Amino acid sequence: MKTIIEPFRIKSVEPITLTTKEQRLDLIQESHYNLFQIKSRDVIIDLLTDSGTGAMSSEQWAGIMRGDESYAGSNSFLFFEATIKEVFGYKYILPTHQGRAAERILFSTLCKDGDIVPSNMHFDTTRANILSQNATPVDLIPEKFKDTQFIDPFKGNMCIDKLKNFLETNDLSKVPLIMVTITNNSGGGQPVSMKNIRDIHLLAKKHNIPFYIDACRFAENAYFIQQRESDYKNVAIKDIVKEMFSYSDGCTMSAKKDGIVNIGGFLCTNNEDVAEKNNNLLILTEGFTTYGGLAGRDLEAIAVGIKEAMDQDYLHYRIKSISYLGDKLVANNVPILQPTGGHAVYLDASIFAPHLEKKVYPGQSLACALYVEGGIRTSEIGSFMFGGFDDNGKEFYSDFELVRLAIPRRTYTQSHIDYVIEVIIDVYKNRKKLKGLEITKQSKYLRHFTGRLKQIG
Ligand SMILES: Cc1ncc(COP(=O)(O)O)c(C=O)c1O
Repeated sequence: MKTIIEPFRIKSVEPITLTTKEQRLDLIQESHYNLFQIKSRDVIIDLLTDSGTGAMSSEQWAGIMRGDESYAGSNSFLFFEATIKEVFGYKYILPTHQGRAAERILFSTLCKDGDIVPSNMHFDTTRANILSQNATPVDLIPEKFKDTQFIDPFKGNMCIDKLKNFLETNDLSKVPLIMVTITNNSGGGQPVSMKNIRDIHLLAKKHNIPFYIDACRFAENAYFIQQRESDYKNVAIKDIVKEMFSYSDGCTMSAKKDGIVNIGGFLCTNNEDVAEKNNNLLILTEGFTTYGGLAGRDLEAIAVGIKEAMDQDYLHYRIKSISYLGDKLVANNVPILQPTGGHAVYLDASIFAPHLEKKVYPGQSLACALYVEGGIRTSEIGSFMFGGFDDNGKEFYSDFELVRLAIPRRTYTQSHIDYVIEVIIDVYKNRKKLKGLEITKQSKYLRHFTGRLKQIG
């Protein structure tokens, strides 16, 4: 059959309030053109993030009821630990309340002043957590991948030549780890090939540098490897996952993505000394080793969700429903980052609204217009998120001006997506009317969460 159906039935529903355009015009001004400041009840379709917004399964809810809330050594922790070890193959597993807690602990353990951490592309929280250790995050993607219209089956790959050059020209005592983000969220939810992961591993090994994976969307990445890398056509997702992680020394994970839970994460390593230091930091700020800031029930839901995310039928539906959205937009000439990613479709605001220069935040302007037009909340991944000021007070901008339509897992149906397509096409037809924005208030780190803007003109 050609029609791909959602491989689940809906047991519980949540009402959506249908606001009017007039109401949304007021709401966007009251929120200072920052979509993180809009209340969820004022959103019709929420594509702000795929993080923690998925629908849990009946098995996960059963796990919630089974949760053992003992402070130390709970059954839920043992189940969680055994599952993560089985799926990822690491020796030491710590639960954390979400991905950034794992990042903060790992970088506090490994990084010191003046260090440099290369990656294909760091996500915003990863970048900020490295910076807060007075270390520098460096992105090493191939130059041609910066063209949003360039098509490559593994457009999340790190540039191996750049990595080689980086390792040959830098003082390696200042490189505490190499990271790779799978899939590459900031670069369009693009997958990283097994070959690329293996090549990074070989270089890391040659130079004796630990290699960690930002594992948020590991199952979606594994599906792309199965579909696009010829050696893996007939390999089961669980075996692809095992192999991907076998090349690394550890990982940070936000289980709010491919753990399909509303909260949770973990930090893994094979290094005993690093594990001990991580554990001490975890106890200091997150909680004891066997709960790490989560409830026992959360650990149950993560363990079940991690396995559900690797289900072949689920992944097929998931990736195909994202490309359904991308393909319809392309068919209507709407510029998107090509090819469609694993968890999201990214509109290219620089092509969408070429009359808006980077300094007036075209991505944020487009994201606000989608909200006003159809109550769709998205997120800007451009100069509002990744721009800022250098040490001399000079403003710098992001390479990309994107608007991410992140699709929550198992949450929206095809008619919701058809509505989204209709709204975007409408905004595209009226794109010349989009107005630029100016920042009126911002914080030093992660300004896109709390910053304020106003419309120019
Ligand atoms: C690639 C990547 N890394 C890290 C994180 C941080 O995870 P969390 O939001 O759970 O702290 C995210 C969240 O969106 C992400 O997409």
